[in-house]
Amino acid sequence: MSSGNLTGKAAIVTGGAQGIGGATALRLAAAGARVLIVDVDAQAAAANAQTIAQAGGMAACMIGDVSQVETAKAMVARAVGEFGRLDILVQNAYGGGRDRAGSAVDVDPRAWREGMDLLVGALVLGAKHAVPAMIESGPPPGYDPGPWQGDGLRHGDPPPREVGRIVNISSVHGILQAPRSLVYETGKAAVIGLTRQMAVDFGPQGITVTAIAPGHIVTERMEEMWRQNGDEAGFHLFELHYPVRRTGVPGDIAGAVAFLCSPEAAFITGVVLPVDGGLSVQLQENVIMDLKDYILEHPQLKTHVDRRPTARR
Ligand SMILES: NC(=O)c1ccc[n+]([C@@H]2O[C@H](COP(=O)([O-])OP(=O)(O)OC[C@H]3O[C@@H](n4cnc5c(N)ncnc54)[C@H](O)[C@@H]3O)[C@@H](O)[C@H]2O)c1
Repeated sequence: MSSGNLTGKAAIVTGGAQGIGGATALRLAAAGARVLIVDVDAQAAAANAQTIAQAGGMAACMIGDVSQVETAKAMVARAVGEFGRLDILVQNAYGGGRDRAGSAVDVDPRAWREGMDLLVGALVLGAKHAVPAMIESGPPPGYDPGPWQGDGLRHGDPPPREVGRIVNISSVHGILQAPRSLVYETGKAAVIGLTRQMAVDFGPQGITVTAIAPGHIVTERMEEMWRQNGDEAGFHLFELHYPVRRTGVPGDIAGAVAFLCSPEAAFITGVVLPVDGGLSVQLQENVIMDLKDYILEHPQLKTHVDRRPTARR
């Protein structure tokens, strides 16, 4: 499991204990990267590191809240101390809170600040400390930049390449707005903005910065939410909503992250890649009309979002 297209590279995955981050840590390790899982959940982080080790990969854990300056600094120092270098940063950690739901009228200023600190501030802190470490590390051992002069039209010296990859996890909620979700939607839109900005700022140093916008991904926690608040008919409504007629699994996102960290993605930066089964390209008014009959046939259906603050017409 330890030889792949990321062999020799070192990665940090925030929120890498479970869910999307958990699958991503596993996937990057399967491609040969050494992975530092940074998470607030010590038990789940240790369990995922063990899963990775059992599969033949290499992973370490660090417990910390990524919205805190000390954590961002310490995680980069730990990765460099443990693996001797840093090549990849996947900024994925998020833990929501009911007090963060609602409109600008409903949301408490403290909940807004805490939400922004984690959704947006943590990603700035992560990059602030990871970028200098990536530059210091340089390209991975054995990196062959390939031909420069003669490989198409070229001028002068080659710029730095393959120095680092940052992948930020946004959401379809960063592209489309759900009602009464000010904190999450604004934060995830800002992730796209900061990704574009960082791509421009760090491209000259050989670092690409991309974002992924997942659709509905049924993680361990999401499955539990569905179990508590949804039912079979409600879940099927979600599936029908997607052009590919299924919701996502953590591996769908992990695969996209691994691609964006691979040599094949060296010329991709500043983009947001929706990994959403086509959800974000549909015209909603047609979808609603297509699903109307299904909803009328299942008037009691329940989804995991039913307990949100009620709609205002
Ligand atoms: N699951 C989805 O449907 C979905 C859809 C779109 C985007 N996303 C985004 O994907 C990312 C991962 O979501 P998920 O569904 O896998 O979540 P999850 O709850 O399954 O996992 C999140 C992990 O982050 C950790 N975490 C939470 N707060 C932290 C903090 N302050 N510092 C360090 N670690 C922290 C948690 O302990 C957990 O291990 C999030 O950014 C989320 O917004 C998820």
